[in-house]
Amino acid sequence: MRCKGNKFYRHNLIFHEKKCYFCTNPLLLCRFKQNEMPLKIAILASGSGSNAENIIRYFAENKMFDFPLILSNKPDAYVHQRAALLGIPSVTFSREEFLNGVTIPDILKKHHIDCIVLAGFLLKIPQVLIDLYPNKIINIHPALLPKFGGKGMYGHHVHKAVADAGETESGITIHYVNGNYDEGNIIFQATCPVLPTDTPDMIAEKVHALEHEHFPKIISEIWNNNKSQVVSGKQ
Ligand code: GRF
Repeated sequence: MRCKGNKFYRHNLIFHEKKCYFCTNPLLLCRFKQNEMPLKIAILASGSGSNAENIIRYFAENKMFDFPLILSNKPDAYVHQRAALLGIPSVTFSREEFLNGVTIPDILKKHHIDCIVLAGFLLKIPQVLIDLYPNKIINIHPALLPKFGGKGMYGHHVHKAVADAGETESGITIHYVNGNYDEGNIIFQATCPVLPTDTPDMIAEKVHALEHEHFPKIISEIWNNNKSQVVSGKQ
């Protein structure tokens, strides 16, 4: 039985009777039966979507994680083709729809989404979405934040900046999303060496390998171990 008033649809409610302590009238109580339904995660991506595909394949046999939907602001992003191959619906939305604060929450609600993963998603997340999913939106950044983050720091720009700065290492940062680009609390970082002869493309390749290795594992860790906290929004 589902509780209609509960936005976390993955919880079943079990009703049971108990006598009131004071007047002995019968009471109908309910309590959560946790972890029966999978955590539903939406992935937002603007580009190729290799991380999206890697995450979905990683959890393919895991009944506790479900990826019912991929959303993108780019109709021609390759992530749509990956979604089609994986048999997962993908949706394109316009910048206006993203910012109006209604369209995306409606879609997420319709699919009973609990958490959101940004995997190469380029638009800034509007406050209304952050408020709806407090500490339930995570992003991956292809450098070691707080260095090489912020507006305009995405994809090739990041790796070129790392190379131009003569850095000896780069890496990945997985972090919660707040109202500012790349400034939410850091969950995890991993590093790779950068050689003086490395081109931005070579750095990108090393960083991508780190992303594919760690992103799904971190998703599993934060949302497997802390499921009740995720659901109550206290993480
Ligand atoms: C990744 O490098 C990610 O860190 C950044 O965008 C890139 C997306 O790559 N945010 P892909 O589309 O998943 O291949």
